[in-house]
Amino acid sequence: MDVHAIDQFAQKTIREAGERIKHSLNETIKVMEKSSSSDLVTNMDMEIEQFFVKEVNEAYPEHRILGEEGFGDSIQHLNGVVWIVDPIDGTTNFINQHRNFCITLGVYVDGMGMLGYIYQVMTGEMIAAVQGQGATINGQPIPKLPPVRFEDALIGVNASWVAPNRHIDHERVTKLIQRVRGTRSYGSAALEISYVVTGRLDAYFSMRLSAWDVAGGMVIAQEVGAICGTLHGKPFDLMKKQPFIIANASLYKELIEDYLVK
Ligand code: IPD
Ligand code: CA
Ligand code: CA
Ligand code: CA
Repeated sequence: MDVHAIDQFAQKTIREAGERIKHSLNETIKVMEKSSSSDLVTNMDMEIEQFFVKEVNEAYPEHRILGEEGFGDSIQHLNGVVWIVDPIDGTTNFINQHRNFCITLGVYVDGMGMLGYIYQVMTGEMIAAVQGQGATINGQPIPKLPPVRFEDALIGVNASWVAPNRHIDHERVTKLIQRVRGTRSYGSAALEISYVVTGRLDAYFSMRLSAWDVAGGMVIAQEVGAICGTLHGKPFDLMKKQPFIIANASLYKELIEDYLVK
């Protein structure tokens, strides 16, 4: 497998998709509700996913592709080469803010993350990683994350998960929020993961994420020494929608054991 060729092709396709999305901001975007008024999809989410499916199928007909909007293959297992794409992560930001959204992509080989990308469309910031070869931001190497103390940490949280919910103990999460330097909420899982892998945030957690939200970020995380997993410290299963945590390695264990495991 020519990983370098796949990397070049993936980055070119992501940038082209980004240009299409930027262009669409000059036109009327069609917004549709999926399960509720807070779960939206636009014509661009669908068009961009179809673009990825077409490009990958043409270039690599033996690979499979999984996307949020369902235009790719129906994937029940990760055998072989599987591309996992979220054409727009942060659709609400795309609609309401015209910024703070990403394209994110992971390429997995027999379940192992080989290539990962998070592309912040409006700033053009490209974070990329190839397994074992390190991660880059706009082509420059990203250093391994240095340890950080809880007291100095900035943590990404989705406000809806701070309210009482069945996954976490509300009082313990409140204590966590009081202990750290601050919390942030950006409305795009991929953007928040990109901030953790670059040290702009020190952890991020969300209670219900899917493969396409995290597949690219997980490959980048392993290259910079950030840890990804579930509330119970297990590896995140890409075939399930479930809680997801990414953290600076110095925070991960205490974060889940003292604050997040119920
Ligand atoms: C969503 C965003 C959001 C997260 C949701 C995701 P989408 O992805 O990443 O930040 O809280 O759980 O579904 O639908 O905008 O691609
Ligand atoms: Ca969505
Ligand atoms: Ca998403
Ligand atoms: Ca999406």
